[in-house]
Amino acid sequence: MAGTFDISLDSLAGRSVPAEDVSSECLSDSLQPIRKDRKAPKTAPCATGMRDGATFFLETFGCQMNDHDSEKVAGVLLSRGYRQVESPDAASLVLYNTCSIREKAAQKVFSRLGEYRTKQAAGQVIGVLGCVAQQEGEEIFARAPWVSLVCGSASYRKLPELLAQVEAGHQRVTGLNNDTDETFETPVTRRDNPWRAYLTIIEGCDKACAYCVVPFTRGPERSRASDSVLKEVRELADLGYSEVQLLGQTVNSYADPSSRRMRFSELLLAVADVPGMRRVRFTTSHPRDFGADIVAALESQPKLCNHVHLPVQSGSTKVLREMVRTYTRDEYLEKIAMLRKAKRPIAITTDIIVGFPGETEADFAETLSLLEEVQYDALFSFKYSPRPNTPSLSMPDAISEEEKSRRLAVLQETQREIQGKRNAGMINTMFEVLVSGKSRRENQWSGHTSCHRVINFTSQEQNLLGTYVQVLVTGAGPNSLAGEQVT
Ligand code: 5AD
Ligand code: SF4
Repeated sequence: MAGTFDISLDSLAGRSVPAEDVSSECLSDSLQPIRKDRKAPKTAPCATGMRDGATFFLETFGCQMNDHDSEKVAGVLLSRGYRQVESPDAASLVLYNTCSIREKAAQKVFSRLGEYRTKQAAGQVIGVLGCVAQQEGEEIFARAPWVSLVCGSASYRKLPELLAQVEAGHQRVTGLNNDTDETFETPVTRRDNPWRAYLTIIEGCDKACAYCVVPFTRGPERSRASDSVLKEVRELADLGYSEVQLLGQTVNSYADPSSRRMRFSELLLAVADVPGMRRVRFTTSHPRDFGADIVAALESQPKLCNHVHLPVQSGSTKVLREMVRTYTRDEYLEKIAMLRKAKRPIAITTDIIVGFPGETEADFAETLSLLEEVQYDALFSFKYSPRPNTPSLSMPDAISEEEKSRRLAVLQETQREIQGKRNAGMINTMFEVLVSGKSRRENQWSGHTSCHRVINFTSQEQNLLGTYVQVLVTGAGPNSLAGEQVT
């Protein structure tokens, strides 16, 4: 098998280095412990003059939802006259957007806050946003008294007011109410990627998976009105975005609150119909709400990317019941069969947790057999991590760390072989690629296929970034493809 070029994009989700217990980055219905230092925008924002000279540094951990929240927060700050800087030392406001999906991610928050403290300049304000803010609340002030703002994602709507309080010198400002029916929308979002735009269509989660903190940290499900979504998609197209990724912890549980009552599948088609849009993605889907109408939409509209992320979590019906996933192994496999029968091939990726309390060797074997049966295109795998407030916290028969690590390694090796074979089967196939990266090596580029594979390729052409090109696959590894542009 030919080797793959290793430039920065390496997972199906196009993200960076995996964390220890994560097989690769995730398109998931939840949060990922991946650290991203946000770069300051290249162009100066249009400042209102309200905060002349004020600067902010924003660091983000977690999933695409957190990424996109940070884009919105950055937009709000820029519109208040702040300037974004690339180092906390140079900032008058340091914001830290946090993730609490697994213990390790949450633990990092306090060590990072400790680092910030050692460098804190006189008058510098430090704020904690996101899931750890929501989860720990005012406890953060007790453990890190140098923090002055604590705000969970369900309260971002209030961010301008909260910032005004911070700017007025208040010491302990909080936004912690997650009992809300509001969504966080702002016309001033400052997007990081010039080609692909994230767009949240549903926030929070009403499912009650026994292991998950999201319903506590992100509050109840709130969908955004379809006409507001479509208005923003038109604006994005006018700005030159050709790919949009609709986001939600359970994106396909979308319930249009407006009188149009658009179904999720109808919304997908309407977004794809917006002139200028070439690719529409969505993540993450919950198997329970994944219906035939979504598959029909994917079949009928090629602008809808042929990739579905459908987290299964376990291959054992017994464990799925304990997890309160609301489907059995067979019901999940029926959804897969529906996707496999589609008129065009659809890539399928998933999330799996190993070592859930009570997971026996036989349960784990069922998960391995599910991988063989489904033949996923990518897998994001996690060791079970007990989280505060979640029902699984008090479940008996915890699995030891050692055993969890062993199962994770076996799972990942199984999937690596599957992926290697699947990708090798793509040699000599042609893909349309949205070019998003240029290697330091001459004539080497990278991008994503519609099915969300990373492809590293050669081209003699210049200025390919942001364009769509045809690439012939000439080599494949488990995590990416290699190819050459065909003109
Ligand atoms: N422990 C381990 N993994 C978890 N996930 C969610 N909560 C936990 C937890 N407590 C995983 C699920 C989810 C993904 C984003 O993170 O697989 O789909
Ligand atoms: Fe996803 Fe379940 Fe967590 Fe909701 S509760 S975000 S469906 S894992």
